[in-house]
Amino acid sequence: MSRPLRIGIAGLGTVGASTARILQQKANAIALKAGRGIVVTGVSARSRGKDRGFDLGGMAWFDDAANLAVSDDIDVFVELIGGANGPAKAAVEAALDAGKHVVTANKALLAEHGAALARVADEANLAIGFEAAVAGGIPAIKTVREAATANTVNRVFGILNGTCNYILTRMEDEGLEFDECLKDAQALGYAEADPTADIEGHDSAHKLALLAAIVFGSEVDLNSIYLEGISAISQDDLRAADELGYRIKLLGVAQQTEQGIEQRVTPTMLPKSAPMARVSGVLNAVAVDGDAFGEITMVGAGAGGDATASAVISDIIDIARGRLTPVFGIPAASLSPVNRSGMQTHAGAYYLRLNVYDRPGAFAGIATRMAESGISLESIMQKGRGDTETGKPLPVTIITHNTMEEHIREALARIEADGHIEGRPQMIRIEKA
Ligand code: HSE
Repeated sequence: MSRPLRIGIAGLGTVGASTARILQQKANAIALKAGRGIVVTGVSARSRGKDRGFDLGGMAWFDDAANLAVSDDIDVFVELIGGANGPAKAAVEAALDAGKHVVTANKALLAEHGAALARVADEANLAIGFEAAVAGGIPAIKTVREAATANTVNRVFGILNGTCNYILTRMEDEGLEFDECLKDAQALGYAEADPTADIEGHDSAHKLALLAAIVFGSEVDLNSIYLEGISAISQDDLRAADELGYRIKLLGVAQQTEQGIEQRVTPTMLPKSAPMARVSGVLNAVAVDGDAFGEITMVGAGAGGDATASAVISDIIDIARGRLTPVFGIPAASLSPVNRSGMQTHAGAYYLRLNVYDRPGAFAGIATRMAESGISLESIMQKGRGDTETGKPLPVTIITHNTMEEHIREALARIEADGHIEGRPQMIRIEKA
């Protein structure tokens, strides 16, 4: 066997500690699979004293991750600090400059700086492994970057945030309100330190940006992702979805359209029969549509120490074996700028929920505006009655046939201006299974 591969781990939170522990506990089995031993020779974290469930003996301690990154005693720098900028970015740049391979779980760093870091890595013939950055333990990167090579991929999509999926599942199953479910998600440790990143879709967008760069051979471009979070989803929407045969998921979708590449993270209605509609709780799912292999859907743990460490270690083993793949699958210099297709041209069916004042002509007015914008309706559902005396409106849900988003927006703006509805309309896109 070759000499052992020496690893430096920066960040000993749940993922870092699991990585070190699994590498120690399964050292012999992993050495056989990697073709050489893998030893953690250095670590860096904030506090030294804590018991993290693995033996720190034989590992040099670094207070500063950047010093570990350039240590002569490591071959691979594993960055598990997090954050798009600051110490994580400085340490990864230092590691690449010092000729070290990098493995990271940091989706924010790569979503913001992936193209630049990939150029540096390519020039130095170094790897940046980031399987752990997208959907935790699911081998999403390996699948889209390596297994899908023979395919032209026209869509990659997924449930990319366990916190949101947990919240939506509990709201749906137990009729609970959003805030209560969010608190439980935080207590269980699913949500990021700042849950805004989860619930407003930023975390999913980081992951989608990385998947899209690989499948479309384009530069990572966070700004071309259209974003809506889940905080405006109500029990009314979940109940209506259930009655109409759908489930609501926060879905990240990147797809090739006639206009270009459309990328969005939005609450989305999926037919209950779709494989992804049945992915519940904190689980993640990633699906790829390829012209050769058809559709592949993978479901699994999107977070958690051991699941994410499993992805980190699979990247380390690739490096140990000398299997170096360009960061985004093709040379960084060949990645093209994103040919962006905006949401105005998004084509699909829509769910609309309007709080309509119960008075003569309201329905007719709404239907007329829809027809003027060329929108054909599949169904209209009205529950109960409004109250003409108090003026209390009644919720009306509408499912449209396929149309274009600019038509929906035009019709809704007119309906709002006509004064038939209270508040803003709710609009949720329906994804074909
Ligand atoms: N907070 C993320 C989630 C996990 O809820 O899925 C790490 O990206």
